[in-house]
Amino acid sequence: MKQGVLVTGGTGYIGSHTVVELIEAGYEVIIVDNLSNSEESVIDGIEAITGVRPDFVKADCRDIVALEELFDKGKFNSIIHFAAAKAVGESVEKPLEYYHNNLLSLINIISLMRKYNVPNLVFSSSCTVYGQPDVLPATEQTPRLEAESPYGNTKRISEDIIRDSVKAYGTIKSIALRYFNPIGAHPSALIGELPRGVPNNLLPYVTQTAAGIREVLSIFGDDYNTPDGFCIRDYIDINDLAAAHVAALDRMIGSKMKESYEVFNIGTGRGVSTMEIVKTFEKVNDLNLNYRITGRRAGDIEAMWADPTYANEELGWYARKSLYETLRSAWKWQQRLSGLEISKD
Ligand code: NAD
Ligand code: UD1
Repeated sequence: MKQGVLVTGGTGYIGSHTVVELIEAGYEVIIVDNLSNSEESVIDGIEAITGVRPDFVKADCRDIVALEELFDKGKFNSIIHFAAAKAVGESVEKPLEYYHNNLLSLINIISLMRKYNVPNLVFSSSCTVYGQPDVLPATEQTPRLEAESPYGNTKRISEDIIRDSVKAYGTIKSIALRYFNPIGAHPSALIGELPRGVPNNLLPYVTQTAAGIREVLSIFGDDYNTPDGFCIRDYIDINDLAAAHVAALDRMIGSKMKESYEVFNIGTGRGVSTMEIVKTFEKVNDLNLNYRITGRRAGDIEAMWADPTYANEELGWYARKSLYETLRSAWKWQQRLSGLEISKD
């Protein structure tokens, strides 16, 4: 019989790509999402790619009564919890909303896991918990630093809530995946990122500039202490990131965990500068991007990349896509969103 998985936030950017990977790996998926930052039509894209239409329930994870109805049907023994608000700047302006959404949703999920004996939880954490480490690449042992924003703090607190719950209750196992910078889209261009309003993150800004939605990309700072002076990040292909969730679930269900709560870095292990992204994007998509170099963005860290060895060895997971493929998929997805002809490889 197929294993059932509840995917909260499953119509979102990372959730939708993970649902595709889960279906392709033979899992039966139930999505719950309140559509606060996604659209139900994403399900059509998932169905077009996989040939399977996952169950979808529109509900808010803060609403424990609505969630309980799902648990009551008993169709899953694992949960991947993506549902959260994620805009760093907004979280500074609306901290209570962020603590309320991100923490209450998690607490509800764990409470119902206890009540209904659902054992497995995969949680979306972030490399933001490391702040700017003294030593790079960041390993799972790199100390977590005081969060820079309420959003970042919700990730740190969520990790602690999970760790303490796993320890105290004994019935729950969990893997927290610390994502580095997810970019790109499904190679079919049928699903991808749907940023609302003016994008804060680099890749959507790049693709929207290439599509003419934004006039010019600002590159924030060229005076960092890095080889070319630009900030460095570890950009992980969204499909590779999605596959890490399947590996984590397989590990839990296959009883391969060494401890009941484990943490993995999910990155490529390669630091790439902002300018390298821009230049590679131009090259692989055969276009010129309108950009200018401006001052630093407040709060930006200089450099960040992962040591993914632990995930490689323990999960058997590797980042496989090249930056070339990823930046192609990002542009093809933008072409589809903008109604442009999708360029051929
Ligand atoms: P996203 O906004 O595309 O997806 C999140 C989904 O959760 C959305 O579909 C939204 O409608 C839904 N949602 C939010 N609050 C909800 C609630 N209370 N009840 C039900 N649904 C709710 O974001 P994403 O980029 O796919 O991120 C998924 C997860 O990964 C989040 O927890 C995010 O914090 C984390 N994460 C993202 C990044 C990144 O760069 N994208 C990096 C590290 C961690
Ligand atoms: C973001 C999140 C952070 C999360 C991390 C990994 C924000 C503010 N922070 O940060 O919480 O942990 O992703 O998922 O959303 N850049 C430009 N011009 C732009 C946009 C970005 O030059 O218009 C540069 C930035 O200065 C940075 C790099 O591109 O050096 C990447 O920026 P971004 O996509 O926002 O990611 P992070 O800064 O890593």
